[in-house]
Amino acid sequence: MRKSESNVCYLTDQLLKRATFSCLTAVSACSVELQLRGLSGSKTRSEETLPLHAAHQVNELYLQVGQFPLKDEPGWRNDTRRQCRASVSGRHSDHNGSTVRSAVSNALQSDPRAGAKLLRMFFHDCFVQGCDASVLLDDTATFRGEKTAAPNANSLGGFNVINSVKASLEIACPRTVSCADIVAIAARDGVVLAGGPTWEVEVGRRDSTTASLSEANNLPGPSWTAAQQIRAFQAKGLNTNDLVALSGAHTFGKASCNLFQNRLSSSDPPMDATFRSTLQSSCGTPSATVDLDQGTPVTFDTQYYTNLQMNRGLLTSDQTLASSSQTSRLVNTFTSQSAFFNQFTKSMLKLGRLGVLTGNQGQIRNICGKVN
Ligand code: HEM
Repeated sequence: MRKSESNVCYLTDQLLKRATFSCLTAVSACSVELQLRGLSGSKTRSEETLPLHAAHQVNELYLQVGQFPLKDEPGWRNDTRRQCRASVSGRHSDHNGSTVRSAVSNALQSDPRAGAKLLRMFFHDCFVQGCDASVLLDDTATFRGEKTAAPNANSLGGFNVINSVKASLEIACPRTVSCADIVAIAARDGVVLAGGPTWEVEVGRRDSTTASLSEANNLPGPSWTAAQQIRAFQAKGLNTNDLVALSGAHTFGKASCNLFQNRLSSSDPPMDATFRSTLQSSCGTPSATVDLDQGTPVTFDTQYYTNLQMNRGLLTSDQTLASSSQTSRLVNTFTSQSAFFNQFTKSMLKLGRLGVLTGNQGQIRNICGKVN
């Protein structure tokens, strides 16, 4: 690849050959990604732009030279596809070498909140018409996605990580790994890299061709009571254990002050006085953000539950779990790391099965932000 004066990258035949070899032998999704990163060499361009751009060029060249069999053509061997999936999810490796893991790890270097953003993205994807990557679809003149829904707008993040992983995978394993699977794997990796538990992500989801702005607007809100949250989870087939364990995700990441401002002058649910005054000084402007878990803000641990016991839960929806008779016992149970990690992994698997598209349903998007 060389850079022209207009700053556009071109692929050399050599890279094309290496990429093709890599794909046909399913050596590793990472090798192509690394080659692209290495050859791009430029720090002036954002990480996600270059691989995406390069990915299209590689794919286009494949099509031109006719060397690349499409997913459903006989030339595409099943074992190759399987190996591609394994390489992506890190299932058969030591988990460090997987494409997604490297991308999340890179993102964490510049944004300590990256893993939290990806975990939240998974929740917002799965709760709205199932785990189908509908949350990733961009608005167009004729299509309304979910990104402008109140719980997502100026709030949900991590899209660039998913887009960049997808671009790399389209080179090494074209039309094989869905955006919905990438989101699920990235969420797991965000948890693991923050010191949380690991689990084997189930894969094989396909991507939607639709989105639901109205369902996204109905995602659980920061002022909801425990009873409201229980009902919303029950409607998805998730029980109280799932609700309290998954809420433990608020052990890392941040929230905007405007979402809990009312709590600074209310004692229902209760708030520790010292915690309140810390928040009052951190929340100078409504757009300021503070750590959801002020004890260990970037670690995935049981501190969230200990915070709730001490009335240091940030959102009403968090603190109410410690006051409600339906959930307070579980809050106490999950202060044990083994109890929390064990239930959290089970509940993540359940969350990841909601409304999945399989077989001929949906599609595997080429680009996560738009329908093929
Ligand atoms: C059960 C009801 C839930 C409610 C009411 C809720 C609400 C919220 C709110 C209001 C924020 C702050 C958003 C902002 O300031 O822009 C947030 C952040 C977050 N939520 Fe939840 N959430 C819930 C469940 C979950 C679940 C099930 C997960 C994942 C399994 C999750 C993961 C996260 C994470 C990791 C963050 C921090 C994201 C970041 O730093 O960008 N939440 N949540």
